Amino acid sequence: MAEVLVTGGAGFIGSHLVDALLADGRTVVVLDDFSTGHAENLPDHPGLRVVRGDVRDAALLAELAEAHAFEEVHHLAAIASVARSIEDPVATLSVNTEGSVRLATWAARSLPGLKRFVFASSAATYGSEVRVPTRESDPGRPDAPYGLEKATVERYLELLARTEGLPAVCARFFNVYGPRQDPSSPYSGVLSIVTRALHDGRPFTVHGDGGQTRDFVYVADVVAALTTLARQPDAVGGTFNVGTGREASLLEVVDLLESVAGRELERTHGPPRAGDIRRSVADVTALRGLGWRPERSLRDGLTALWAATC
Ligand SMILES: NC(=O)c1ccc[n+]([C@@H]2O[C@H](COP(=O)([O-])OP(=O)(O)OC[C@H]3O[C@@H](n4cnc5c(N)ncnc54)[C@H](O)[C@@H]3O)[C@@H](O)[C@H]2O)c1
Repeated sequence: MAEVLVTGGAGFIGSHLVDALLADGRTVVVLDDFSTGHAENLPDHPGLRVVRGDVRDAALLAELAEAHAFEEVHHLAAIASVARSIEDPVATLSVNTEGSVRLATWAARSLPGLKRFVFASSAATYGSEVRVPTRESDPGRPDAPYGLEKATVERYLELLARTEGLPAVCARFFNVYGPRQDPSSPYSGVLSIVTRALHDGRPFTVHGDGGQTRDFVYVADVVAALTTLARQPDAVGGTFNVGTGREASLLEVVDLLESVAGRELERTHGPPRAGDIRRSVADVTALRGLGWRPERSLRDGLTALWAATC
């Protein structure tokens, strides 16, 4: 029976994708080293096999190709941290670029029934010098190793598509938020940190004036984007922004979260963070062209996030 491989499936976004695939009756294999993923994110389900391992492990990949007939691969495993990539660029290069090239080459050569290889790329590939809203064709210039690592994988995928017929699609996520985003690390998504601070009654530090903007996209909308990219024949070979097209400042989302929660956050102010992008928002015309729409408003998404935090 045709199966779906989700690397990084025990992580924040990957685990929501696994839930959606299982709900759709698909048989799913998760490959995850649990470095930032959690077993509790995954359900106990007869259609799910969880393999603990590293995407760079060639022997393990060979075993998986023997045991399963994958028709779809969603590659989300990564060290998903800009800050970590600045601190230790060789470590993040190894997982984010080398790991992806190994996995994609394996997929092209060892999975005869493969219909789609979907790669979780990032808006970090654009850097801070692009116009906003940003289109996929706008020239990017990453500000940190993380963005360069993702951009490099995109180029490898384009090469593997041309030379080995890999049915690759790149999804450039903007700022994804929702339940299961781990707030415990300073590298985490800002909304998970601010929600946790509000819940625990701890202060939250606003870096800079709080006027920096982001395109916050709810995790269920990202999952719907991934399943659309896996299903739509027109997606093959493409690169797609995954955002909402709505720009919100940090202060605006903090105010909205306070209104949803009915509580006030204790705010402290700190210096701007080095390399913090001032404005970020996606042009999502291309993904909309495949029939996808973001379903959750920021208020609805924050309401769901707050309910899951309490
Ligand atoms: N969260 C966002 O806003 C965002 C934005 C842009 C792109 N992305 C990308 O989306 C993907 C998922 O991000 P997330 O926010 O769910 O992060 P996450 O850290 O929750 O998930 C990443 C998963 O990959 C696993 N992993 C890490 N290294 C591995 C390795 N060598 N082998 C196997 N598994 C490994 C981790 O254990 C974890 O479960 C990542 O590729 C990330 O770069 C996320």
